[in-house]
Amino acid sequence: MDILLALKTNAVSVVMAVLALLLLWKIRGKRNSFDRLPPGPAPNPLLGNLFQFSMKEAYKYYLELSKTYGSVVTIWLANTPVVIISGYKALKETMVGLGDEFSGRAIYPLLMKATYGYGVLSTSGHRWKEMRKFSLATMKNFGMGRRSIEERVKEEAENLVEMLKKSEGSAFNPADMLLNAVGNVICSIVFGHRFEFEDPQFKSLLRTVNTYFAILSSPLGQIYNIFPRLVSLFPGKHHQLFKDLEEAREYCKREAQARMNILDPSSPQDFIEAFLLKMNEEKDNPDTEFHFDNLVSLVWNLFSAGTETTSSTIRYALLLMMKHPDVQERVQREIDEVIGQDRWPSIEDRQNLPYTDAVIHEVQRCMDIAPIAVPHKMMCDTKYNGYVIPKGVMVFPLLSSVLIDPNLWKNPNCFDPENFLDADGRFQKNDAFVVFGMGKRACLGEALARIELFIFFTSLLQHFTFKAMVPPEELDTTSINCSFGRMPRTYECYAISKK
Ligand code: HEM
Repeated sequence: MDILLALKTNAVSVVMAVLALLLLWKIRGKRNSFDRLPPGPAPNPLLGNLFQFSMKEAYKYYLELSKTYGSVVTIWLANTPVVIISGYKALKETMVGLGDEFSGRAIYPLLMKATYGYGVLSTSGHRWKEMRKFSLATMKNFGMGRRSIEERVKEEAENLVEMLKKSEGSAFNPADMLLNAVGNVICSIVFGHRFEFEDPQFKSLLRTVNTYFAILSSPLGQIYNIFPRLVSLFPGKHHQLFKDLEEAREYCKREAQARMNILDPSSPQDFIEAFLLKMNEEKDNPDTEFHFDNLVSLVWNLFSAGTETTSSTIRYALLLMMKHPDVQERVQREIDEVIGQDRWPSIEDRQNLPYTDAVIHEVQRCMDIAPIAVPHKMMCDTKYNGYVIPKGVMVFPLLSSVLIDPNLWKNPNCFDPENFLDADGRFQKNDAFVVFGMGKRACLGEALARIELFIFFTSLLQHFTFKAMVPPEELDTTSINCSFGRMPRTYECYAISKK
């Protein structure tokens, strides 16, 4: 019996060893086929460079690598090569100069879970071009960058101020109110209506977006993106998220279906209606990208990308104001002098508020919300800097490297609005302000985000002074997590009315 058992165990060990050798051989073969990739640290045969850095702040490792290997570096996430591009010059030459070649979107399992390869954010090639062109044009028609969008943002800013007034005197966490206000702006564009704060559908959508970003930005999200099948076998928060994402998609579908029979071709009332009209227009084209799957994912893309990013930036802005009360005071002085207390801020005020404008830009620079943008993918084999980056390879544009480059900023390592001011105190633009990305895949909602940041921030500081529950020097301004995106901390604070 013992001999039989020993033979069995040995046979299993031999099979395992052969399988491991085959796997290593396959991986070696794959690695050798990428022999003209840019240089990088030596990968482990099975795990690549995975355990050489902290999943919590991978971008710091990438920054270090660029110091050793230069502006194009290859790392291996297990069996997958990733080319990291850093520095303003290299990013401009690739993302802008070779814009088409670098315009693909990497197949990120967590992005795919929410969109199934449809929509704008996680698609490439023809589909992406069609969705992007349509989204930009439609949002422009609904006033993106023009007055009517500004009116929607103002309405939400006024609601937000009223809501904060109710918390007068007691400490509160502003995170949900900010998410609610920013979420309502995108709802009014996409769904044509806003929600009440307590609306259960709205709450559920916002919770899903928030959890989605939290998981995307966490080590769990990173591991899932590398080993999706394996991680799916284990219990964890991701399973509930996947259910919630399905519900969010169902809601978007219901919103679209409800409009099918009430469409007025002469005046679409919202983004969904504009898409449905385009679907009608193209119904005889068998290759059209204007179909239900793209609509549902596109709506989710706009809602998710447009909510968490802007609201967490405002949350971070208020945190920095509490950390730097002198800056907060100077912003309030400028707002008092230019706008006063008797009217609401509007976008035309921006040119007369150079210090406030500089502060908003500096908040975004310091926050560095998307250190590696949203990962790209090569659309074809491309020569760059003497290397060949093959079609399909994932690319991380390391935006962080530009935002903290000492050659491009006066004071790159701390919060200093002077980074955006000239010697006469005028606002000074800087091309190294790349928080919205660079080139063809740069943020589709940049114009909207800029209006929101300005109107929300100035409206809040016009009415309140924000104060922390601890002395400024004890306030922690580091992020909770940072991988795909950066999540600033939540906190409790006081909003002291200025009147
Ligand atoms: C503070 C606010 C925001 C920041 C910092 C930001 C930043 C970014 C960045 C870095 C990217 C990726 C660029 C790349 O792949 O190279 C991106 C993409 C995108 N953003 Fe934003 N974003 C913000 C707000 C918004 C808003 C309000 C919307 C809503 C309309 C939006 C919609 C999108 C979409 C749809 C994409 C994908 C574009 C594509 O793949 O072609 N973003 N954003």
